[in-house]
Amino acid sequence: MPLEDHGVRYFLIIQIKCRTLATLGALVIIFALALDPFFQQVVDYPLRWTFQGNTLVIHRVINYAPRAVTKIELSDVMDGDSAIFSVAAQFYYKNGTMPVPLGNGTRPDIPLSCLTSNCTWPTYQTLGVCSACSDISPLLEHARLDTRIEWLAELGAPGHEDTFPNGTVCGYFLNTTSSKPVLMSGYRINPNSPSPKEALIMRTVLMWSSPSRILRYGGSINFKHIRNPISDFLIVSTGNCSKGVYRNEVPSAQECVLSWCIKSIELSYYWGTYFEIEKSWFPYTTDDLSQTTPWETFKVARDGESGIKVVYNQDITISPQPDDGRHVTYGASNITALHTILVFDDIFSSIMTVANNWATPVIKSSLLTGGGSGIRRTPNFNSWLAPNNVTLHVEKLAIAITNVIRSSPKTTTSVFGMSFDGETCVSVRWDWLSLPLSLLFLGVAFSISTIMKSPREKEWVGIWKTSAVATFLYGER
Ligand SMILES: *[C@@H]1O[C@H](CO)[C@@H](O)[C@H](O)[C@H]1NC(C)=O
Ligand SMILES: *[C@@H]1O[C@H](CO)[C@@H](O)[C@H](O)[C@H]1NC(C)=O
Ligand SMILES: *[C@@H]1O[C@H](CO)[C@@H](O)[C@H](O)[C@H]1NC(C)=O
Ligand SMILES: *[C@@H]1O[C@H](CO)[C@@H](O)[C@H](O)[C@H]1NC(C)=O
Ligand SMILES: *[C@@H]1O[C@H](CO)[C@@H](O)[C@H](O)[C@H]1NC(C)=O
Ligand SMILES: *[C@@H]1O[C@H](CO)[C@@H](O)[C@H](O)[C@H]1NC(C)=O
Ligand SMILES: *[C@@H]1O[C@H](CO)[C@@H](O)[C@H](O)[C@H]1NC(C)=O
Ligand SMILES: *[C@@H]1O[C@H](CO)[C@@H](O)[C@H](O)[C@H]1NC(C)=O
Repeated sequence: MPLEDHGVRYFLIIQIKCRTLATLGALVIIFALALDPFFQQVVDYPLRWTFQGNTLVIHRVINYAPRAVTKIELSDVMDGDSAIFSVAAQFYYKNGTMPVPLGNGTRPDIPLSCLTSNCTWPTYQTLGVCSACSDISPLLEHARLDTRIEWLAELGAPGHEDTFPNGTVCGYFLNTTSSKPVLMSGYRINPNSPSPKEALIMRTVLMWSSPSRILRYGGSINFKHIRNPISDFLIVSTGNCSKGVYRNEVPSAQECVLSWCIKSIELSYYWGTYFEIEKSWFPYTTDDLSQTTPWETFKVARDGESGIKVVYNQDITISPQPDDGRHVTYGASNITALHTILVFDDIFSSIMTVANNWATPVIKSSLLTGGGSGIRRTPNFNSWLAPNNVTLHVEKLAIAITNVIRSSPKTTTSVFGMSFDGETCVSVRWDWLSLPLSLLFLGVAFSISTIMKSPREKEWVGIWKTSAVATFLYGER
């Protein structure tokens, strides 16, 4: 009977009460079954990062000087930094620059080379651009006023104000009680019919006039302490397009500033994925809230045409707390600062209007500089319009401009990083050897005991030479 057979074998150890040598033999055979898994566990192949050298380089900017311009002619004045403009334009008329997918991550926006699978750089400082926004909605007042309407999309260039229509407008004004109230969001009332006419759904206003550089609204509202700002603008917009304006919905209103600053950046690159953390930033500020204006303007005439020559007479010099015991002064020349500022003149003085409830919204920009009556566009998406997060959008813009500055050839200084490569090591896990070693010890003990015992029990021991048991135990090996 197979069952009984099985039972007998199973109970061998118990029946003989562990007293005979056969118990030891049985234990050796039972534990030998677990030998294979234990041997497999003895050797492990962990991945170790081994140092490959520190020749890989990224760049930081101490003095930003994208191009050498020695002389500014009348016609050059309006010329902004083209590298920054091409990136900033993505943020004005589109949803910002999109990261380019690479591998399973995204492509870094700065020049970087990493030939191994894991590269790290020490935290380092670089010149960059920072942003800040704050709410100014308490400054807006709802009113219905008779004014000159200067915000219609079809109107001509500034300078021909006399031809602009007069009319009654209703909406949210800045400086309501002053002699020159500014409609930030609202609509024109049609005197002959109950349905309203054009609506102004968004307006961005630069805090200084261009080209004459006179501060508007008494200068910056919330960011007077920022020194030599790159741009300082108000942005007011009403959600729900023209319907929201006609319903007198409260617009969202912010003042945002873009400024020079020093950023501390930590960077690493791992398996084609790029990680960057802005650890901290050092702003470019001043305690003197009535800072002297860096602008000087001169009237000039050439070829019978008169114009204004603009001079920006302050350099940017920022000295943050030393990061590694050495004082470094970061900055840019007044020429570079001027070229950077000019980029945003075009962008941050604009309006977005809708002719009526079913018309396409039109953005009119470059209201101050060039472009005659401004440049009109019909974008299908406007990230500056409520309820989009303007603070976040300006933050992304500042990061993108910082990356342009960091990618500028010639003006960068090297930062050395460390590269690591994964190498496979062999490690022996000695604890998994305990079973094989104790079995070896027990087996030797069992053999010696058997050898010593068998002469005494000659009549019991059979001939094993032809027995199949040995073959069964050792299989094919
Ligand atoms: C890259 O190598 C460094 C240095 O050995 C190591 O500390 C770090 O964890 C590695 N990065 C990753 C993502 O494993
Ligand atoms: C614009 O970009 C932001 C973040 O970059 C994203 O969350 C949002 O969905 C984008 N909007 C559109 C309309 O693509
Ligand atoms: C990218 O792939 C590597 C290797 O397959 C993986 O370790 C890493 O986590 C992945 N990174 C991301 C951001 O998915
Ligand atoms: C608008 O009114 C002002 C005075 O309030 C006047 O000088 C100007 O000519 C008027 N404009 C038009 C187009 O009627
Ligand atoms: C708006 O009002 C502020 C004071 O609240 C004043 O300094 C500024 O000159 C006014 N702006 C205009 C354009 O009238
Ligand atoms: C748009 O209109 C809805 C109601 O129709 C309102 O709840 C929402 O707050 C409005 N959006 C904004 C940004 O005002
Ligand atoms: C830069 O500053 C110098 C000296 O202050 C001045 O002569 C020069 O015109 C300035 N350049 C610009 C572009 O404003
Ligand atoms: C807008 O973005 C900023 C910065 O990322 C964040 O702090 C803020 O909470 C966001 N606001 C809303 C209304 O989501």
